[in-house]
Amino acid sequence: MIIPGVEMIRSIVIFCLLTLHDPVSSNQCGKVWLTVSSLWRPVAINNKVVDAELEVNWDLDCPANAGYPDSIKVFTADPAHNKTIKPQLTLLLAEHPRGYYRTNITVGRPPLPGGWDEGGGATLPGPHCLKHHAALYKNGEFLTSSCLQIWPTWMYDLRRQLGRLPIGTLMIPGTHNSGCYKHGDLTRRDAFQRYLLTQDRDVWTQLVHGIRYLDIRVGYYPSIPRNNTVVEETNYVNRFWVNHDIIRITPLMSIIKDVRNFLDVARGEVVILDFHRFPVGFEGRPSRHRRLASILHREFGGLILRPDRGVDGLGPTLNDIWTVGRRLVICYGDQQTVNEYDWLWPPMTQAWGDQQTAEGLKNYLERTILGSKRPRTSQNPLWAVMAELTPIPLDIMLKPSGGLRQMADSINRNLTVWFQDEWWKQTNIVATDFFLGNNLIDISIQSNIKKSNIAHWRL
Ligand SMILES: *[C@@H]1O[C@H](CO)[C@@H](O)[C@H](O)[C@H]1NC(C)=O
Ligand SMILES: *[C@@H]1O[C@H](CO)[C@@H](O)[C@H](O)[C@H]1NC(C)=O
Ligand SMILES: *[C@@H]1O[C@H](CO)[C@@H](O)[C@H](O)[C@H]1NC(C)=O
Ligand SMILES: *[C@@H]1O[C@H](CO)[C@@H](O)[C@H](O)[C@H]1NC(C)=O
Repeated sequence: MIIPGVEMIRSIVIFCLLTLHDPVSSNQCGKVWLTVSSLWRPVAINNKVVDAELEVNWDLDCPANAGYPDSIKVFTADPAHNKTIKPQLTLLLAEHPRGYYRTNITVGRPPLPGGWDEGGGATLPGPHCLKHHAALYKNGEFLTSSCLQIWPTWMYDLRRQLGRLPIGTLMIPGTHNSGCYKHGDLTRRDAFQRYLLTQDRDVWTQLVHGIRYLDIRVGYYPSIPRNNTVVEETNYVNRFWVNHDIIRITPLMSIIKDVRNFLDVARGEVVILDFHRFPVGFEGRPSRHRRLASILHREFGGLILRPDRGVDGLGPTLNDIWTVGRRLVICYGDQQTVNEYDWLWPPMTQAWGDQQTAEGLKNYLERTILGSKRPRTSQNPLWAVMAELTPIPLDIMLKPSGGLRQMADSINRNLTVWFQDEWWKQTNIVATDFFLGNNLIDISIQSNIKKSNIAHWRL
């Protein structure tokens, strides 16, 4: 039972949180926001590497008569709450005209605030700051600040604005090859596997930050080589892996657990799980698809939302979904299997450009997103833009300094600008590599608020 008084207090608390912690803090004269670099560097003295360094981004746009901000300070706590704290870094903007600075401050994999570290316990709704903050100044006067943050409950927190939007019109932040991350700290060996990993946070952490679309490719392995012998895997569940192309990376079960735990705790959030391709072990083997379907049904059961094209083929609204109380959409990239189970959504269209340069990607995405014909199919109201560069085999052989981390770094900041300024209105799902290097979670949330203010949708 929901007690109205408690619900009202919760709304007021969230409203205050929102006004206090606008993630991209802005005033009339500009904004500053923090991201995390996908790059790494070796450390000379040992075999370790440094990764996940903090990046400061800013965008100044002042009225003609106002003086421009002149500096940004980076803190390890909220400067608004601690007047004596010393900055870890001060940037004089005259020396850094580009709107971007990569610091050597390591973010690492910090504990998640608000009770959102895995392992149960009370979790608080609303956005929560991690420890790093950046603040903008003019002549020593504080203008605005923002923090690196998680927003685990953004959909339900914003229910009064977003509830009537069909899911096919929402802008939904996602990850590409969501299960391809390394557990624990990065080592040199991992770092040199340059074309394997696409993410550096596990699926739980992705969801807690605000990601709502997961792109999964599954491989089937009846036996796994161990200690120079091949051992048959007798537990069926353990035969399914998340793959990057033909290489297995993470046991599927660990991703299923993360999604289920998240949906159990964040009780108003909607997650889209896209089983997009089956690169190993499924060809001509419908029984393996059925095994996978039965595992999904057993693990997610009452959380699974049935396919629903909604009014105008744009899917159910968030309000519709909350009324039904089932918040997991499972899209399945094999039509035959979809035909057998009425709870699987049809294959999702992924707009993937196979591009190797930022210009090429921009041209492709522009044509796709702004073009007259949306690439969604008539059966599935959802579609995804894959906003990442793709290496060609020659890159993999010939560019020793290249890799997916460099490729993500070379476009992540452009993606922030393109989607914020030009493409937010037409975009449904957008999936990226190393998502902490762009600001698309925040841009999606702000875009959805803008979308909710537009009366009628024709997409
Ligand atoms: C403020 O920050 C300083 C330096 O980090 C710390 O020593 C002090 O305890 C903090 N004060 C409060 C009220 O948090
Ligand atoms: C980080 O950069 C600052 C300024 O460039 C330098 O003084 C400091 O030694 C660097 N710290 C590390 C850990 O590399
Ligand atoms: C593999 O070999 C190591 C040491 O030889 C042993 O400790 C381990 O239990 C073996 N693992 C399996 C799965 O048999
Ligand atoms: C990407 O961003 C950089 C830095 O702002 C800019 O110089 C470059 O032109 C952008 N690339 C494209 C294709 O827009």
